[in-house]
Amino acid sequence: MPVTSPLPGDLEPIETASRDEISALQLERMQWSLKHAYDNVPYHKKAFDEKGVHPSDLKTLADLAKFPFMTKTALRDQYPFGLFAVPREKVARLHASSGTTGKSIVVGYTLQDIDNWANLVARSIRAAGGRAGDILHNAYGYGMFTGGLGAHYGAERLGCTVVPMSGGQTERQVQLIIDFQPQIIMVTPSYSLVIAEEFERLGITPDQISLKVGIFGAEPWGEGMRGEIERKLGIDAIDIYGLTEVMGPGVACECIESKDGPVIWEDHFYPEIVNPDTGEVVADGEDGELVFTSLTKQAFPVIRYRTRDLTRLLPPTSRAFRRMEKISGRSDDMLIVRGVNVFPTQIEEQILRDKRLSGNYQVLLNREGHLDNVEVRCEVQRELSDRLSPSEMDAISKELQHHIKTNVGISTRVAVMAFDSIPRTQTGKARRVVDDRPKQN
Ligand code: DLL
Repeated sequence: MPVTSPLPGDLEPIETASRDEISALQLERMQWSLKHAYDNVPYHKKAFDEKGVHPSDLKTLADLAKFPFMTKTALRDQYPFGLFAVPREKVARLHASSGTTGKSIVVGYTLQDIDNWANLVARSIRAAGGRAGDILHNAYGYGMFTGGLGAHYGAERLGCTVVPMSGGQTERQVQLIIDFQPQIIMVTPSYSLVIAEEFERLGITPDQISLKVGIFGAEPWGEGMRGEIERKLGIDAIDIYGLTEVMGPGVACECIESKDGPVIWEDHFYPEIVNPDTGEVVADGEDGELVFTSLTKQAFPVIRYRTRDLTRLLPPTSRAFRRMEKISGRSDDMLIVRGVNVFPTQIEEQILRDKRLSGNYQVLLNREGHLDNVEVRCEVQRELSDRLSPSEMDAISKELQHHIKTNVGISTRVAVMAFDSIPRTQTGKARRVVDDRPKQN
């Protein structure tokens, strides 16, 4: 596999190319990607045929609007390998992310896809100010989540010394940072503040911490949070964006010189913003839902994938590519809890497994210190209300907590209550989620 990374610190020619050059490359790659998806994935062929379009209909980039959208439902229905565009034996790696219920969504990568991904994360770390020779502490989770391995291979590709710490074990994280003196940290923004507090507890001030740059993503965070992280760790805080379906971290990343929203690596991912209700493409600068078409992916091409992330496209500044504004929210009900994507329906599914529970429930989110807390309130069936002892209620709660932890992947506090304890609304529409976490600004 050829190593195609640029010299450390140097920009790749495409990062400073003219708009015409970028558009020409995008068109050529988009034509390839649509054909690749159509020829190799029955799902895409059927979706194109139903819409009455053929890959050869794409004569300009704007023609993309004629093609069908892809949603998370498609990924769920094609579980696990139905959307792969290469024979399974050519798939070198799998990653997964939350689906709306039960089964997660699965994506695959060829060796070439992994090579491109490493290059794009290397490009991202370089944009964030990282250079070959830097020590990079990677506190994104390793495993099926794309954060850990995605950051890892990109950092290696750039020529960094990687500390593959993964998430958790805050005291150990901090000890390793003190011992190894890394310049860069990659971690979720919320967890970086937990790390900062541990430094504070040890009486270590920001100027005594070796870190210079933090590359944060996997959950929404605003300018207020950026300021707090920068102050508490004495670093530049940079936004990296990505999602499993499209690749993982490194679909877009901010540049340290401007910190004005992630630059979309448009030579590999073509962005559109659509009205979330109508699906109409809106102009650059207008708010809407971000949609991606992959331009180079072999194993898992995505065509007009609806991310549900709300943002807008901004003109180029530090690079030739367009930027996206920091994500402002989502157009679905997906929650991100300590960096883990969670749909309320996933929790509901676990509650409904237990026939002793009424199916009426509420998920309450708040923030204690810098970490999200989740409480799940549910009720026993009416006929059991006076019959269960406190210890039986407690056993139900422990069981549910365990099921949520193993199947959804988050720790929760579960309160099992008597029938009719959870407020019913007048409209009949249950308010399933009460999110009291402070809004990002
Ligand atoms: O979170 C990939 C990633 C890992 C990105 C590490 C950055 C750093 P998923 O688990 O599939 O992938 O979650 C993707 O997380 O659709 C957004 O809603 C949210 N998200 C990711 N990055 C950001 C960000 C990874 N920088 C979902 N700002 C996306 C706001 C983000 N939200």
